[in-house]
Amino acid sequence: MTFTEQAPENLPELIKTTKDRLRAQIGDVAAALAEVEETLRPKIAEIVALRERGEEVWPVVDFRDVAAGTVPRETADAIRRRGCAVVKGTFSRSRAEAWDRQLVSYLEDNSFGETYQYLDDGVFGSLAAGKPSIFPIYWSKPQMEARQDDNMVAVRGFLNGFWKHESQGRVWFDPRSDTAYPDRVRRREPGTSSSGLSPHTDSGSIERWLSPAYQQVFRHVFAGEPNRYDPWDGAYRTEVNEFASTVMCSAFRTFQGWTALSDMAPDQGVLHTVPIPEAMAYLLLRALQDDVAEDDLCGAANGAALAVDEKYHSLLLPALSPIPAVEPGDTVWWHGDVIHSVGAVTGQQGWGNVMYIPASPRCEKNAAYAKACGRAFTEGVSPGDFAAEDYETGWTGRATAADLNETGRRQLGFSKSPASV
Ligand SMILES: [Fe+2]
Repeated sequence: MTFTEQAPENLPELIKTTKDRLRAQIGDVAAALAEVEETLRPKIAEIVALRERGEEVWPVVDFRDVAAGTVPRETADAIRRRGCAVVKGTFSRSRAEAWDRQLVSYLEDNSFGETYQYLDDGVFGSLAAGKPSIFPIYWSKPQMEARQDDNMVAVRGFLNGFWKHESQGRVWFDPRSDTAYPDRVRRREPGTSSSGLSPHTDSGSIERWLSPAYQQVFRHVFAGEPNRYDPWDGAYRTEVNEFASTVMCSAFRTFQGWTALSDMAPDQGVLHTVPIPEAMAYLLLRALQDDVAEDDLCGAANGAALAVDEKYHSLLLPALSPIPAVEPGDTVWWHGDVIHSVGAVTGQQGWGNVMYIPASPRCEKNAAYAKACGRAFTEGVSPGDFAAEDYETGWTGRATAADLNETGRRQLGFSKSPASV
């Protein structure tokens, strides 16, 4: 089963004709960009000022408030404004630390260190990257436990709720039910020096201009009314099919995310975001300006994350802000359009360990991919979106069907019971 579309044959020509059409639709492309700039400038200035005063830019919410439905209004407003959040204590420290130890045992028991061969899947293309620390492991018991845990379900439901799931007379997804999007783990050793990862967005690069569904998602931007664009409107998001490549994501993710398995300080090579979801309108319009070659989208390339760089996007980069200090059991989330990077670090203090677990609410597209992931789970092979490295097929201690609860079964398409949890 495929969840993608093949990239069109003559990309430069398609980019040129699409740009011509979008520019004609927009009319005054410079004025449209200027309008977005005007909206973004005060937001960027506010973020820079907060950071300079030593205040937290990222909204932080306590899991107990999520569970009790008592998240303060101003915190919820901040999450909507920033498009990112840390949920403190999604899991207890002791539970997350136990997961970290279990992961180590799982890797050691199966001699991962001796057999692992780093595969450069080109995901980050020319982006600066450090030594690989993201391991293609999907089916350990800690990962499965975290994905199907009631606390994770509560957090994802809370975050999905920031999105408009019903609009244009249609229901785009079910915010109260998630599907599985099995992803990898990161284990970065103490002492690591890394140049980090340059700013980028995931979930499509050239597709954001070329795909008909994305053109609908960004319909206001491409109609020359960028300030009417609502990054939280789910309309057409679940109809996007990215072009086949090693970076494509088959699921619609309301938020990308990870669960911390170690303490991490903001200056230890951690995740940063440009915490302004509307900045996507700037990226889209910037590529349509006169100083960008007619077959170029500011360097966006199929098969690579969408780079955000000094040459074209210098306006945005001062807003890059690190996560606050996190501890094991905290979860970290960012809207799927939000620009993010990983900071550089020299001689990292302590571990930098996470399990990547996003929020992928139930819709036809996500359910179909999750069902295929269910088959991959049974066999222990890599999920379809990732290189078929298949390390875990013969591993001992892998999670099995007996480890799944009802949520886990539903997330992987094994249960026919009603979708909502
Ligand atoms: Fe990314």
